[in-house]
Amino acid sequence: MVKLLLEITDLAVEVNNKEILSDVDLYIGKGETHVLLGPNGAGKSTLFMTLLGFPKYKVTRGEIIFKSKDVTQLSTTDRVRMGMGVSFQNPPAIRGVKLGDLLKIEHGEGEEPELSHEMMDLVTKLKFDENFLERDVNLGFSGGEVKRSEILQLLAQEPDFIMFDEPDSGVDIENVELLAEEINTLLDKDKKPGMREKSGLLITHLGYILNFVGADTAHVLMDGKIACSGNPNEIIEDIRKEGFKGCVECCGIH
Ligand SMILES: Nc1ncnc2c1ncn2[C@@H]1O[C@H](COP(=O)(O)OP(=O)(O)OP(=O)(O)O)[C@@H](O)[C@H]1O
Ligand SMILES: [Mg+2]
Repeated sequence: MVKLLLEITDLAVEVNNKEILSDVDLYIGKGETHVLLGPNGAGKSTLFMTLLGFPKYKVTRGEIIFKSKDVTQLSTTDRVRMGMGVSFQNPPAIRGVKLGDLLKIEHGEGEEPELSHEMMDLVTKLKFDENFLERDVNLGFSGGEVKRSEILQLLAQEPDFIMFDEPDSGVDIENVELLAEEINTLLDKDKKPGMREKSGLLITHLGYILNFVGADTAHVLMDGKIACSGNPNEIIEDIRKEGFKGCVECCGIH
């Protein structure tokens, strides 16, 4: 049996005194990749922010167990140190922080004067040049550059559980394939399923990236609740045909 890496039980979350998520149960095994689907405003990004422990997202019920430890009350810093990582849907620009310096810190080489060869290879692979390392993080980056920068930072960090919030949105076809290749590296896809150590939760709207990144299970979040879980291909096929309306009928939610 697969060992569980993340266990979310009966989770309810409020933002600004408004309940956004409720009754969320989600279990992700070590080495598994799950997909999170759902219409705009369903609460997908809210779930990610909650898992990372941003203070604005108040857990009013339930618990989050990560690596067998209850992290529901832990700070974001502690959760990241335990091995959580994210590529944000809309990360902020960080004035005064150079991308090169951030990468050094994320790769544990903060004291070094130069970025390591290993990191420089990844920088080049993600189609950045040295000028980018001197630029403030995300400031004036194009939409596609922001997405590539998020994946580059994850490659520096090497987390054990990685959340990808629409890594493919606004990215051209060629770059989606490039990002997918790196996402596969991050999720140990080059290893046999039973040998994989890394797990992921991936939000995508169009599902195009799933042509390149294999997923074990998909979940549909509707109105703050998990409405359905199952085979990713079947669920995406249904959504393409009938939209999320079909999920409402299938699960009998209102
Ligand atoms: N700070 C906030 N104050 C009030 N409402 C909020 C706040 N943050 C999020 N919400 C609301 O929570 C709901 C869920 O938002 P969320 O960003 O999680 O949706 P999503 O599923 O990621 O949607 P999308 O596919 O458009 O990215 C939305 O109705 C949003 O307006
Ligand atoms: Mg979102």
